[in-house]
Parts: sequence; structure tokens; C-alpha cells
Amino acid sequence: MSDVSEYNRKAWDHMAGKGNEWTVPVSDELIAQARQGNWSVVLTPLKPVPQDWFGPIAGQEILGLASGGGQQGPLFAAAGARVTILDNSPAQLDRDRQVAERHNLDLVTELGLMQDLSRFPEASFDLVFNPVSNCFVEDIQPVWREAFRVLKPGGRLLTGFCNPVLFGFDPDATGEDALRWKFRLPYSDLESRDPADLARHQASGEPLEFSHSLEAQIGGQLRAGFRLLDLYEDTAENWALAEFFPPFLATLSGKPED
Ligand SMILES: C[S@@+](CC[C@H](N)C(=O)[O-])C[C@H]1O[C@@H](n2cnc3c(N)ncnc32)[C@H](O)[C@@H]1O
Repeated sequence: MSDVSEYNRKAWDHMAGKGNEWTVPVSDELIAQARQGNWSVVLTPLKPVPQDWFGPIAGQEILGLASGGGQQGPLFAAAGARVTILDNSPAQLDRDRQVAERHNLDLVTELGLMQDLSRFPEASFDLVFNPVSNCFVEDIQPVWREAFRVLKPGGRLLTGFCNPVLFGFDPDATGEDALRWKFRLPYSDLESRDPADLARHQASGEPLEFSHSLEAQIGGQLRAGFRLLDLYEDTAENWALAEFFPPFLATLSGKPED
């Protein structure tokens, strides 16, 4: 495992310990509603994923890719899907296991990296659900290649990701400075910060992040063999930058039948 993956494993365990919003599992009430067919999930902070991106979910084999935290996987399982959640953080996977055990859900967890799905045979899944997470990976082409391989023909990849423009701004700046362009793209926590700033960032236990161009995000999916079927942009609450441009995108892509 690379140093970045090892560092980010500990960082996300730390985020889970701190109660970061992406580590808080769904309530028992939401599970009960999902059992009745009423459920909604996000790939990005706010906008619900359109239901027609999923089709009828009961009986589908779904891979939640870097989707730990007990948020989406348990809802898919309560709605009748067979769910595998793969994530790099043991603490995040614990969240899914706890909800699944409490509600007797068809959900298994796998500790691993989204860029290496070699444990799964080709054509294992009907749908891969990948919420915003590829900013924690330096090279995302293996993610698209692997997602394509493990999907059945006709299968779908649902992905959320950061607008690369976001990474031009200093995430630690406040006031007017938060709106001032600072970094050349592509951004890398390891390369773009000065050493003292990087040391401070790592001491805080925050994960390491990397920007990826739209060419790497969308072009990369197309080069892996996917067809782009739909796309939307999303915003976020209580964030000055989000008043100027949408910081997140989500795509629906399909693996052709033939
Ligand atoms: C923002 S959280 C996303 C999960 C959350 N359920 C959601 O709705 O967005 C990012 C997740 O990506 C996982 N992650 C980061 N790098 C990863 C990698 N290389 N492979 C697999 N999971 C990774 C983290 O452990 C964390 O659980």
C-alpha cells in the first residue's frame, strides 16, 4: 500500500472518531423507510441522486466504492439490494457493519483500495456507487479501469467528485483570503503546500487530497470504456466559495451491453 493510502487510512479512522459528517450512519427510522421503498442518497453534499440513475434496486448487486460510514450501503440493502462496501478505513466499515448487524441486512464489507478491485471477478456487479472520494487518490485512471472490469455489461457507475477549480483556493484561508486564487492546478497536498503548511496539515490528522482535471474525471471514464449518460452539479452549505461556483459534480456512466 502506498504511503498516501496508509496515511489516509489513519486519517479517515481519525475523521470517524471525530464524528465528521461523512462518518455518521443512517438512523433506524431511515432504514425502516427504505424497507418500504422510500430512500434517497447523495453522491455529493446536498442533491439527492435521481432515482432513475438506479432503476429498480431490489435484487441488484451493488458495490459501494469508498462508500463507508454506514450511510448509503445500509439503505440500498434495506431496499432489497445485495451490497458490498469497499473502503480504506476500518472505522468507516465498522459503521456499515454495525447498522447491517442491527437490522439483519444483506451487506458485506471489504477493507481495500478503490484503485485495486482484483479481489472481485470481472462482471460481479450491476452498479458501482462511488461518492466523492477520488480526491484522496493520486491517480484515478485505475479506479475507472477497475470499476469497468467489475461491472456486468449494461451495468452503471455513479460517481461524485470535486470540481477541480475548488483546489485553486486555500482551504485553510478565512475571510477575503478564502476567495483569492492561490494554487496552480493540478493541486496536491504533498506538492502544492509549503513544507511547514503540510506538516501542520498532517499534524491535524486531515486526509491528503489531490485535484483531478475534468479530462481525468470524465475523459478517464470514457477512455476506460464507459458511456456518459447524465451529469449534474452540486453545491454545499455554509461555504463562501460555493456561492461563486458549484464545487461538486456527479456523473452516471454505463458499461455497454456488448
Ligand atoms: C467523504 S467519505 C465518502 C463516504 C460517505 N459515505 C459519503 O457519503 O460520501 C470518503 C471515503 O473514502 C474512503 N477512501 C479514501 N481513499 C480511499 C481509497 N483509496 N480506497 C477506498 N476508500 C477510500 C475514506 O475512507 C472515506 O470513507
